[in-house]
Amino acid sequence: MPERVDLFYNTYSNFTEQVLAAIREETFGKDIGQNSWLTADEYERFISWLRLEPGQHVLEVASGSGGPSRYLAHQTGCHVTGIDANENGVETATRSLNEKNLKDRITYKVADANARLPFEDNTFDAAMCIDSMNHFPDRADVFREWHRILRPGRRAVFTDPVVITGPVTNDELALRSLVGLFMFVPPGVNEQLIAAAGFRLVRKEDVSDNAALVSRRWHEARHRHKDALIEIEGEERFEGLQKFFAAVHSLTSERRLSRIVYLVEKNE
Ligand SMILES: C[S@@+](CC[C@H](N)C(=O)[O-])C[C@H]1O[C@@H](n2cnc3c(N)ncnc32)[C@H](O)[C@@H]1O
Repeated sequence: MPERVDLFYNTYSNFTEQVLAAIREETFGKDIGQNSWLTADEYERFISWLRLEPGQHVLEVASGSGGPSRYLAHQTGCHVTGIDANENGVETATRSLNEKNLKDRITYKVADANARLPFEDNTFDAAMCIDSMNHFPDRADVFREWHRILRPGRRAVFTDPVVITGPVTNDELALRSLVGLFMFVPPGVNEQLIAAAGFRLVRKEDVSDNAALVSRRWHEARHRHKDALIEIEGEERFEGLQKFFAAVHSLTSERRLSRIVYLVEKNE
């Protein structure tokens, strides 16, 4: 099996490096500080499904270095709590609040999404989780936890970027999961676990095109900034990540691994 490459730790600790900012802009068009296959227009669409009102409280699960949650807070006027297992991400996210004057509306915490969440029952008006469900092997418990912490009638949106929808080799799976713990599920498993946790599935869409586009642009932008990146990452890690982005592009553009977004609702 290829050795794992720590994408999140290194990316979050160097998040403010100029070259990474340039790569993000070339990759995403509008850089909202995301570290996923998410674009700003896509995120705005997902946010609109949550029917949020100013002053409500949203949980962002796997908030990374905080970019999307700051964007959500800004767009909606909501309070946001972001949790992530990566300490560097949470530290960078918390530091960004000082700069952006959002301290009174956003909080970040280190927490494992696979474990019991450090919140009371019926706390949140919505939950959002972008391109991270694949890192949660205890998925049935994860959904049960979301159901517990959401208020009745409220909604959650999540994307699963690696639903197995075609033939994939063991090497491709190893390459796709180079950046950490991964769980790959076939179609139907998320749906079954969502229902078992007590949620109603409101909407489900294939959003692989965004992952295919973003991974291609990310690969190309990284190639353009190769020399500067090698200074930060070293040659081996640079090459490892290039293979990773190329694999994401081919797997998603050929729909062998699909990125699916789910909108779920807790009963009143
Ligand atoms: C692809 S990134 C997405 C980050 C963010 N949602 C975004 O769109 O920019 C996946 C995130 O999942 C986090 N993660 C992985 N395992 C986790 C866990 N068990 N609990 C909480 N976060 C986790 C990683 O640290 C990383 O920030």
